Amino acid sequence: MAFEATKLTENIGTEVRAANPEALLNPESAAELRRLLVERGVLVFKRIDLADEQQVRLAALMGSVRDEGVNGIFKVTIDPKVNKAGEYLKGSFLWHMDGTHDQVPVFASLLSGKTLSDVGGETEFANTYKAYEELPDEMKRSIDGLKVIHSVAYSMSQAGLPTPPDYRPDELNSTDKVHNLVWTHKSGRKSLVIGCHASHVVGVDLEEGRALIRELIEWTTQPRFVYRHHWDVGDLLIWDNTGVLHRAEPYPLESGRVMHRTTLLGEEAFA
Ligand code: OGA
Ligand code: MN
Repeated sequence: MAFEATKLTENIGTEVRAANPEALLNPESAAELRRLLVERGVLVFKRIDLADEQQVRLAALMGSVRDEGVNGIFKVTIDPKVNKAGEYLKGSFLWHMDGTHDQVPVFASLLSGKTLSDVGGETEFANTYKAYEELPDEMKRSIDGLKVIHSVAYSMSQAGLPTPPDYRPDELNSTDKVHNLVWTHKSGRKSLVIGCHASHVVGVDLEEGRALIRELIEWTTQPRFVYRHHWDVGDLLIWDNTGVLHRAEPYPLESGRVMHRTTLLGEEAFA
């Protein structure tokens, strides 16, 4: 095998060490990394220092690269001088999944640390498969079949950002999506579909539904389901967006933090 893999915590996160990055860049290694990714939620490559071109090549071996940014590299930064829409990334300070406004959410993201913030900026991940599996049976029974409305506007309000003037919190807005609270994947495994974008539960009193969503987010983000990454420049993380929640520890707008992200297109619709 071209690399060594070591568990970082029991329930989530594996560190991958390769003698040199090029050793990972072949179909066999990429297939093995993909299998590990889905099993462990997050892969961590400490100080691997991939060039942008290598990052995109690794991504393309693991799935279909989304066309974003420049040549597959999107700069994640809230610095208003670099990213005019950066304010919106403040939503990433709250626990979320990417792409709940799509029927087929993105599969995975690769994120490299390029310029770090002196304060904050750690990235945290919580395993939504494990969190579901370890729910008490009674809770599993009571949430089975529930549907949740996911709203970009609601997540903006949660993040303290202005919401569109026509946003009606108690209705289905045009960009809202309805997903099963419990996602049964094609593999047969089940995960929770929650996050700061989960606005309310269909057919349940608004506040009661919100309390349930809060309870499930708290359950899922208990320390035993979480991996917290403290960045060094050159670190690469890959997360399975379909099986983890993630968030960034808040960092200042002017911190200069810049991460290079490559995203893999989704392969499986919410179900
Ligand atoms: C993202 C994201 C977290 C971070 O790119 O989707 O949530 O730590 N990033 O920058
Ligand atoms: Mn995100």
